[in-house]
Amino acid sequence: MAAIHYANQRFELEPGQSVLDGLTGHGVPVPSSCRAGVCQTCLMRSTAGVPPPAAQRGLKDSLKARGYFLACVCHPEQDLRVVLPDAEDEDRQTATVLSLDLLGGGIMQVALECHAPLDYRPGQFINLFQDTGQVRSYSIASVPGLDDPIHLHVRRLAGGRVSGWVHEELRPGQTVTIQGPAGDCFYPSGTPGQPLLLIGTGSGLAPLYGIVRDALAQGHYGPIRLYHGSRAPEGLYLAEELRALARRHAHFDYIPCLSGPDAPEGYAQGRVHEVALRDNPKLDGWRIFFCGHPEMVKLGKKQAFLAGAALRNIHADAFTINPAMPGAGA
Ligand code: FES
Repeated sequence: MAAIHYANQRFELEPGQSVLDGLTGHGVPVPSSCRAGVCQTCLMRSTAGVPPPAAQRGLKDSLKARGYFLACVCHPEQDLRVVLPDAEDEDRQTATVLSLDLLGGGIMQVALECHAPLDYRPGQFINLFQDTGQVRSYSIASVPGLDDPIHLHVRRLAGGRVSGWVHEELRPGQTVTIQGPAGDCFYPSGTPGQPLLLIGTGSGLAPLYGIVRDALAQGHYGPIRLYHGSRAPEGLYLAEELRALARRHAHFDYIPCLSGPDAPEGYAQGRVHEVALRDNPKLDGWRIFFCGHPEMVKLGKKQAFLAGAALRNIHADAFTINPAMPGAGA
């Protein structure tokens, strides 16, 4: 078995054990969040030994060249000597909380003013650090040029430490640490006539809200259809804003969906991905975005593929597709 050398100690990995589990199991404080190779919170650097390519997937070339890897998906076949990352390589910076607004459905909109320019695309995500070191990934709902500060939508989860902190303790004027952006769930320029289908549940609306407005701002002229699902009407936050957006853009449709038994007039009834796929049964040539509940994302991706969508045209909010992630998107 490979061994990990960290701070003059040697840790033997169990079969199938990741570097993250091997180190944290011995009390080494390696930060982590998604534990699925997505959020990049568990970034480490190898100073001796080559990390496996799978542990470097998604990292910038400059980081790969210097031996950086993601500890949660690192299963080395040779010994590695590792260190925690240098601060300047973590893409971390500070930001001031400008405002906190309840949008409905238990969603808090957090507006952040970054202390250094943040080059992001709506729909990507950033990591938000709590003072205690807990970290969670949140998609960016804002659009550069339309919304000045960064907007995150944070849903309060039962027992969610970071979401509880945001809802209960965070105050305007406070300084927080963020990391990123990362992720490839965003509107790609260059195909302005391509039909777009966006399907989300709960706070999975955040990246979709950013992507829709980004596409419209960039002059997208193909049809854009956004389906947002919830059990109850109050979960369909931003419904009025989206209805107003649809009135201003004839090629944009907003379809609120309720999965409960009785949907009042103005709402589609049924599970959101089923409604969307029923309304749009042929998806060859479409670009599709799924964000929200992991099971919906999994089923929706499969059904979209069966309806003719090419895999390269199916996007999902990276961190919410991992059911194992504690408090995914919370
Ligand atoms: S990438 Fe390792 S914890 Fe998220």
